[in-house]
Amino acid sequence: MGRKIVVRQTKTALVDARREIVFRVFRFNAEFDVLPHYDDFALKVSRGEVLLDALNRIKAELDSSLSYRKSCRHGICGSCAIKVENQAVLACKANLFALADRYGEVLTLEPLNKRLAPRDLIANKSGFWENYRAVNPWLEAEIDESSPKENLIPPAINDRLNGADACVACGICFYSCPVVAENDRFLGPAALAKSYRFAADIRDQALGDRLRLANSDRIGIWNCVKCYQCHETCPKEVSPIDKIIKLHAISAENNANVDSIAFRHAKAFKTSIQKSGRLDEAANVIESAGLFGALRHIREAFSMLRRGKLPFGVKKIDKLDEVQKLVKSASAPQSPDKERR
Ligand code: FES
Repeated sequence: MGRKIVVRQTKTALVDARREIVFRVFRFNAEFDVLPHYDDFALKVSRGEVLLDALNRIKAELDSSLSYRKSCRHGICGSCAIKVENQAVLACKANLFALADRYGEVLTLEPLNKRLAPRDLIANKSGFWENYRAVNPWLEAEIDESSPKENLIPPAINDRLNGADACVACGICFYSCPVVAENDRFLGPAALAKSYRFAADIRDQALGDRLRLANSDRIGIWNCVKCYQCHETCPKEVSPIDKIIKLHAISAENNANVDSIAFRHAKAFKTSIQKSGRLDEAANVIESAGLFGALRHIREAFSMLRRGKLPFGVKKIDKLDEVQKLVKSASAPQSPDKERR
């Protein structure tokens, strides 16, 4: 005789089983609308449901005109990325109860980039794709295409990619990055992480070009302000900031950054701190921009001089040796690629 299985549910579990959430959804159709508006949809949702389930139900049960993107439903294609309460998430990975616990029972849903949304929650990601394409996100190598065996790399070397190949190009880091918001020429976290993915691959033969691009003024790694927003938001734990830091290290090992004004600025900053424990602003401008370039700042220099903010010669601080030790430990190489080439 089979045993009877009794499933006990506590009162709390029953109360908790369904929860009403109001979805305040960004609506806009670039073909007809001048301005966007928001529509509210209330749904009773259960514990296991994710945001994509709610969007599917709104479309099936409440408003078939709602537009959004989806494909795999498993966090692999990256197409369902949208913003909830201004935080970008993959809709197919974002649990509704967890979202309601965090933000309350009214959730505002918007596309990744409201300014360019062609329709409802669909983002126009052309800026993201352009920058992504710019780093040549593929292996550049002379490979025998009819080779009888695969061109494999040892697992230890593969580990150096450090998860960079897990990126699904969802665009979440790009549209959460405060630098991209100010400077759309900045390649952005995803493209730079992809650049690292191939720079760290021993089979790739375009390291020089990759590092030159990564160190270009206004678009490359020197524009990253290390706010860690990309680390916080990446749904695949790629941590683009980690890859950007590694690109800095590979660039330094390959002297790929010497032409970058930002690199000279950072180097002058370090030299000044090592020498005196203070920032020598005048020397920093001259060393970063060169004597000629520094002339462009002559007005600021005079104005600083008048206010006594431009001392000639910087006095050493007490306990300079402590600061020098800190500089030394912070300068330790971080590249996994020491024996790369
Ligand atoms: S539907 Fe593919 S990542 Fe969400």
